[in-house]
Parts: sequence; C-alpha cells; structure tokens
Amino acid sequence: MMQIDRLFNEANPKVGGFAFDENVARVFDDMISRSVPLYADVQRVLPVLANLLDHPVIKVVDLGCSTGTSLIHLARALPNHKFELIGVDNSQAMLDKCSEKLLALGMQDQVELFRTDIRDFEIRDASIVLMNYTLQFVDLPSRPALLSRICQSIRPGGFMLVSEKVSHHQAAVDDALVELYFEFKRRNGYSELEIARKREALENVLVPVTIDENGRLFREAGFADVELLLKWFNFATFVARVSNG
Ligand SMILES: C[S@@+](CC[C@H](N)C(=O)[O-])C[C@H]1O[C@@H](n2cnc3c(N)ncnc32)[C@H](O)[C@@H]1O
Repeated sequence: MMQIDRLFNEANPKVGGFAFDENVARVFDDMISRSVPLYADVQRVLPVLANLLDHPVIKVVDLGCSTGTSLIHLARALPNHKFELIGVDNSQAMLDKCSEKLLALGMQDQVELFRTDIRDFEIRDASIVLMNYTLQFVDLPSRPALLSRICQSIRPGGFMLVSEKVSHHQAAVDDALVELYFEFKRRNGYSELEIARKREALENVLVPVTIDENGRLFREAGFADVELLLKWFNFATFVARVSNG
C-alpha cells in the first residue's frame, strides 16, 4: 500500500540534505505524484512513443528508475510488445521498493535492475533511454559526457526521453515559476513548513538548468533532433532523437 509523504512535516524535526534513502523510498510514489506536476501524463508519453518504433525488441533503459513506475506502466500498457527492460539506480532502498512492486505484480522476470551510478553504467543498443527527473541530480560537469555516451548507445530511430525541473534565466520569471510550483504543492496538501523544508533539503542537490541550456546540452551530445514535448511552468519533458543512421 502506498504510504503518505510526511517526511518534512512538524513531527519530523530533522532536515538534512535530501537523499534517496529508506525514508524517501517508503513514501516515494506518493511524494512524486504530489510533487511533480503532470507526473501521470508524463508516464503516458512513453508507451505512445514506444508504440511508434519498428524495433522487433524494444530495449528500454530507465536511468534513475526509482520504484520502477515508468517501466511497469510501459509493460502493462503494451502487453503484446517484446521488451528488454532495464532499470538503473544508485539507491538500494529505491531498488528494493522497485523489486517489491514488481514481485507484487508478478513482473519480477520482466525487468532487470542494476544498482550503479548512471555515470558509470554502460548502455548498448538501446531503443529508448529514459531519464525522468534524474539528470537534475547529476553534477553539472558530468552531464555532457553522460549525455554523449547515452546518444552513442541509442540505435538508429531510437530516442532519449528526459523530464526535468527547469530554471529561468530571468530572476523575476524564475521567482514567479517557483511560486506557481509552491501553489501546486499547497493544493496537493503540503504545508508551508513542508514546502520550505523540502526546498532547503534539495538546495545544491537538485540543480535545474534552463530549457535552452538543456536543449544545447542534448544537441552538443550528438542528438540530431530535440523536441520540447511538454512544459508546465518550471517542469519540462524533452524527446531527443538520434539520426536514422
Ligand atoms: C526523482 S527520482 C526519478 C523518478 C523516476 N524516474 C520516476 O519517474 O518515477 C531520481 C532517481 O535517480 C536516482 N539517482 C540520482 N542520481 C543518480 C546517479 N548518479 N546514479 C544513479 N541513480 C541516481 C535516485 O536514487 C532516484 O531514485
């Protein structure tokens, strides 16, 4: 059963840097659905785009797979497709939760999980590399090399699907986007204290860049075509395609 995220409320005095530990893993599915705008809609993108591929076996590598929500959703949405599904995460707690969910659904043999840093994970012949809300946690200097390795690992016709929190280059606009985001969190039942504490915990841990900067990084990594698929104030989803070979 999904547990409610109360990690940053009054009953929990400790506020340190944010980490994907056991406490976060326990409440993660509730946390992400109440903290990431359009999360459910973003999940719906993957099966639609995967269905358009003509690869006989669709190999999907989910970098920062967390509790496996995207891979599970994909396999259930397209039950007649042949998939090779790989989840990568460096948090054992998140992978344990993912394994628990897969087992409960009888899907434990359909997804291969690797505990490793995505900067070190070798990807080969992927149809799709998925990176939803994970690149933002990778240190800025490591992003170009990671993205270039991802680009080289994708088969012709394939793509990378990336979702990120984004910043804005004008401070006043950025402030407005952040306020709109906090308003979204209030609507989803988070108190002012919870919002402020979570913001403090994520400081220097989650580092967003602008939509333009993300696009530039993807193109410089070698992606032939970058499309901004979805934008909600300070969140964005991109599809970056490799050339058809
Ligand atoms: C916000 S969550 C991703 C959510 C997930 N993709 C989804 O859509 O439900 C970020 C995940 O990335 C993982 N992560 C962050 N940095 C990582 C790294 N350098 N290597 C591997 N995993 C990382 C975290 O452990 C966490 O599970």
